[in-house]
Amino acid sequence: MVTDEFRLLITGASRGLGRALSLSFARLGYRLILTSRTEGALSELSDEIVSSGYLRPSLVVMDLRCGDQIDSLGRAIFDRFSSLDGVILNAAHLGVLSPVEHGDITLWQDLFRVNVLANHRLLRCLHGLLLRSHISTGAIVVGVTCKDYRGTAFWGGYGASKAAFETMLSSYAEENTSSQGFSSVRVCCIDPGKMSSALRSCAFPGELRDKYPITERTLEPFMAAFSESVISN
Ligand SMILES: NC(=O)c1ccc[n+]([C@@H]2O[C@H](COP(=O)([O-])OP(=O)(O)OC[C@H]3O[C@@H](n4cnc5c(N)ncnc54)[C@H](OP(=O)(O)O)[C@@H]3O)[C@@H](O)[C@H]2O)c1
Repeated sequence: MVTDEFRLLITGASRGLGRALSLSFARLGYRLILTSRTEGALSELSDEIVSSGYLRPSLVVMDLRCGDQIDSLGRAIFDRFSSLDGVILNAAHLGVLSPVEHGDITLWQDLFRVNVLANHRLLRCLHGLLLRSHISTGAIVVGVTCKDYRGTAFWGGYGASKAAFETMLSSYAEENTSSQGFSSVRVCCIDPGKMSSALRSCAFPGELRDKYPITERTLEPFMAAFSESVISN
């Protein structure tokens, strides 16, 4: 089993931030496991990574609303790699902006299924793999969050789901830090700020499509979070 490569799972890799992060980490030589529902977009991304001379990523076409598919992902990573060094919990759903009292029950359930419950289920099935990481400073879990619009009118569903996600990750971080300060799994949340993406255009359909491009500066905090990770064989 090869252990001199950093194995990183990125959810929501088909477009937007997840795609940009995938390209950046591929350039650094990471072994990527990329998920989303859109097979074509994942294949195109894989072609781009491979044709640039980087490691071929593993692609997992899955709907994060399906718990069984998440559990299968954990088993597949165990069979193929036996461990995992990092996860970026990036995939998210905006839902439909509306007054709280008019919020559609099914849409709210979907929001929490993708933005909270899927991430809980991912952590449940990936935790054992993260503990087997070869990274001397411990594996790393990064949650992509959004602090803007928290408590803003019409953003109740998305805002509440991101707040719940962050709170869950704070508990997970504390559970994985010993009283001596040693972390078996390092956990952090990063807010990338405004980005022109499919998710944002659902909220602001009239906004220019490239008003907030994803730049090196957007990716910087993610690269910094992973920069301390050293592989020990
Ligand atoms: N855009 C912003 O201004 C902004 C600001 C702050 C934080 N964020 C956060 O940044 C992260 C990335 O957002 P983005 O703007 O890059 O959005 P995006 O371009 O719409 O990408 C969302 C990704 O999530 C995946 N996804 C959504 N629902 C899914 C499901 N049910 N199952 C599997 N995958 C699913 C999508 O893939 P498929 O559709 O192919 O499944 C897509 O790859 C999110 O966590 C978002 O909350 C965004």
